Amino acid sequence: MSKSEQTEFVIYRSEVIHPQDHLSNLDILRAAEARNGMLELTGFLSRDHRHFVQFLEGQTEDLTKVMSMTERDPRHHSMKILASGRQDARQFADWDMGFAPVTGDKQQALGCRNATEIRTQLQNAARGGG
Ligand SMILES: Cc1cc2nc3c(=O)[nH]c(=O)nc-3n(C[C@H](O)[C@H](O)[C@H](O)COP(=O)(O)O)c2cc1C
Repeated sequence: MSKSEQTEFVIYRSEVIHPQDHLSNLDILRAAEARNGMLELTGFLSRDHRHFVQFLEGQTEDLTKVMSMTERDPRHHSMKILASGRQDARQFADWDMGFAPVTGDKQQALGCRNATEIRTQLQNAARGGG
């Protein structure tokens, strides 16, 4: 996936319905991986016991389509957009949909300070850096 194309990105937080170890997490990821792969959407999904935080990037039309489907998904609610905009390069070019459950002190990241911090935390998690 080209890293230098202009894309749109969104970061949102929503409230989970199911507990941390619920199988629905896998269903969500499978659906996300399949569709995001086709649409060339990339990003990252994280969750703790209360919240999902997802970073999603791609071409505007595809991003809008998937975001409106995702917003109606009954496995979460109260979606709040934390940041969105255009960017010159993808942040997660290699990820159809990365995932990391978050526990312990990292919960601060999902409690949401600011979008840049969240993105950095997610990138570190995706690279195995914690
Ligand atoms: C937190 C969360 C994140 C999701 N992220 C994506 C995503 O990135 N891409 C996607 O295609 N679907 C995503 N989904 C799943 C879609 O909402 C779901 O597949 C859609 O509602 C269509 O349902 P279907 O799988 O029955 O076709 C997500 C769902 C949840 C709850």
